[in-house]
Amino acid sequence: MKHKHYFWMLALLLLVFTAACSGGGDDQASGGNDDGGSDGEGSATGKVELFSWWTAGGEAEGLEAIIEQFKEEHPDIEVENAAVAGGAGSNAKAVLANRMQGGEPPSTFQVHGGDELLAGWVAADKMEPINDLYEENNWQDVFPQDLIDMVSKDGNQYAVPVNIHRGNVMFYNTSVFEENGLKAPTSWEEFLEVAETLQSKDITPLALGDKNVWPSTMIFESILLANLGAEDYDKLWNGEIGFDDERVVQSAETFKEVLAYVNEDHSARAWQDASQLVADGKAAINIMGDWANGYYQSKELKAEEDYGWAVTPGSEGTFMVITDTFGLPKGVENPDQVKEFLATLGSKEAQDTFNPIKGSIPARTDADSSKYGPYSTDTIKDFSEAALAPSLAHGSAAPEQVVTKVNQAVNVFVSQQEVDAFIQSLQDATSSLSE
Ligand code: BGC
Repeated sequence: MKHKHYFWMLALLLLVFTAACSGGGDDQASGGNDDGGSDGEGSATGKVELFSWWTAGGEAEGLEAIIEQFKEEHPDIEVENAAVAGGAGSNAKAVLANRMQGGEPPSTFQVHGGDELLAGWVAADKMEPINDLYEENNWQDVFPQDLIDMVSKDGNQYAVPVNIHRGNVMFYNTSVFEENGLKAPTSWEEFLEVAETLQSKDITPLALGDKNVWPSTMIFESILLANLGAEDYDKLWNGEIGFDDERVVQSAETFKEVLAYVNEDHSARAWQDASQLVADGKAAINIMGDWANGYYQSKELKAEEDYGWAVTPGSEGTFMVITDTFGLPKGVENPDQVKEFLATLGSKEAQDTFNPIKGSIPARTDADSSKYGPYSTDTIKDFSEAALAPSLAHGSAAPEQVVTKVNQAVNVFVSQQEVDAFIQSLQDATSSLSE
């Protein structure tokens, strides 16, 4: 706590010093330093600073396409792409938290629908409702209610969803599968058999890049979803079912078995490096959200020909939902321009430009299906029929503190592989959920 005092003293000294240097403070008090906010010219610049973590193949191109479209519609508004690299926001979220706490919010930022938005920024009173945009653009009628619920609290809407990603999916190298006479496994038992066959032929069965842990958490949550079904999986994150449940223990056992088939250098790789192993035929399977579909497309790979896909074993009929959304932080300088940008993000044109490149499906239900490839066409259909389950690894199922602790537990498990200790640490990580 002492640090705090030093911090404020320093801040005060700095303020006095700056005021003295500028001859008594001629501009209006801006309430803090302004790096990365306005560039000193106030709201007249009309700049929209767009904060995300879309920097990998597929996601970066999708983002550029959406910015281009906005610029065409609004040549007078500048857009700054302030993306911070690191899959699933592993770095961006920390940068964002600092800025939000320091009163320097970006104009708008990528945030997952569900707890990450609602139990995080909305509960902390950092977001403006955007009900007016929902009304003006008729969004209540074009977004599925499940998605609207993921961005709403107490009757207010706080963000616009740009896409829907699926978390419970695996991609595989079609040539490797064909050459070895394999079919996509539909249960974890089958998965282990397929993995054993591949291993015996010196092919890495499962590509993993868990430098930032969450890709391992995704494998585990997919196993949980298969063993519990969507409804009971949900109850885990609501605190209604404990992590000592037999099905969770069994999932941990399976997770351990699966980990025997991953590439040795997994902890040095990012998700896209793991996806690349499958693209190169050096590994057979990649369990990853369907931004991997965008990644493969960006590497000129063809769906069906070069890579195939299937839901993760045992999760047929369920859909692990991940939705990227954008809202209006409190205290931005030019909310009107930001709202123009949000209106574009929610538009049919922008969603049909962005999502085919990103690998995701549109959040809107009235999208132009001719724009989507075979993978997304399948996924659009599945989304409308499946039981939805929010992803923990991507912040929708539980508050950020829980996600962080679960990731820590998974990280330890991946290296030590002790089931009892894992269950105990999962119970500790989630104890706040039943309070
Ligand atoms: C986001 C995706 C992104 C992926 C990899 C997920 O958390 O929802 O949009 O492509 O992380 O960075």
